Amino acid sequence: MNFSGRYPTTRPRRLRQADWVRRLTREHSLSADDLIWSMVVHDGKEAEIPVAAMPGVARLSVAAAAKAAKRARELGIPAIAVFPHIDAAKKDATGREALNEKGLVCEAVRAMKDAAPEVGIMVDVALDPFTDHGHDGLLRDGRIVNDETVKVLTEQALIQVKAGADIVAPSDMMDGRVGAIRAALDANGCEETLIMSYAAKYASAFYGPYREAIGSGKLGSGSIKNPGDKRTYQMDFGNTDEALREVAMDVAEGADMLLVKPGLPYLDIVQRVKDAFAMPTYAFQVSGEYAMIMAAAANGWIDDKRAIIESLTAFKRAGADGVVTYFAPRAVELLNG
Ligand code: PBG
Repeated sequence: MNFSGRYPTTRPRRLRQADWVRRLTREHSLSADDLIWSMVVHDGKEAEIPVAAMPGVARLSVAAAAKAAKRARELGIPAIAVFPHIDAAKKDATGREALNEKGLVCEAVRAMKDAAPEVGIMVDVALDPFTDHGHDGLLRDGRIVNDETVKVLTEQALIQVKAGADIVAPSDMMDGRVGAIRAALDANGCEETLIMSYAAKYASAFYGPYREAIGSGKLGSGSIKNPGDKRTYQMDFGNTDEALREVAMDVAEGADMLLVKPGLPYLDIVQRVKDAFAMPTYAFQVSGEYAMIMAAAANGWIDDKRAIIESLTAFKRAGADGVVTYFAPRAVELLNG
């Protein structure tokens, strides 16, 4: 940058003296168009079951999710990302319930597309809501097996798309899954279906409250049978070049949109990915980020209203085209005053 402004002829505060000039010179701003509403559904009858670790977020019944889709339409939120909390009795070692065409995710997608067809519906492709061990893939002898998992994920994606999903979002971090899913979609006449790849997803402490939200519990305690974390497939938080390689592979395999996750602690990754690939790039403001803002606000330590808009705008500033967030409806209400 070639800027030679000098005090006192140049006074940066001139541009900040009143709201009108601040608005006039603002470089990045947030609108409803930037938001994907992260939503948890459950397979019971109760309309809403609050998630304790995420004040203001509840698991919704399928009927309540359909209503929420109409609300998204009214608020101008372009898309909803659906995450399932299924009855523990339906979980097993292979996550078979993920392939149930009449399962929770498919029912929710159908109900939401029925209620508000104008709203895009995104589904997670991963096995963790369905496995009793809580991993995103198939576990064999204490290891998550890649290629067999990819086969199951491909089937899962197809089933979700047949139910009406517009975007499939593989969040599992297996190698080669984007290409496999793209090929299967195309072979089944679904060439219009979008893939948003969780291209750079880190093994993160910030997913904590999500485990409660979807009931995936604690991972194994680190025994030989079950590694107690997801570090053999999700990325190491010390890395950034690795994110670019992950993204490059997903783009080559046919990803339409890219997601970086978690969000706020990874703005450097968002910026690098956007700069390097110029692809539609999104960030996921995850459950722990939501919980931190709400917990501090509950203590009177920060103003959640301001923190919500500030944090979401920060993603735009870093180069994100949009944000997956549990705050979506509240953020729009705040933007609307
Ligand atoms: C799992 C998945 C996770 C989230 C979305 N999909 C958790 C994980 O990888 O352990 C996290 C979402 C959040 O924390 O809000 N495939």
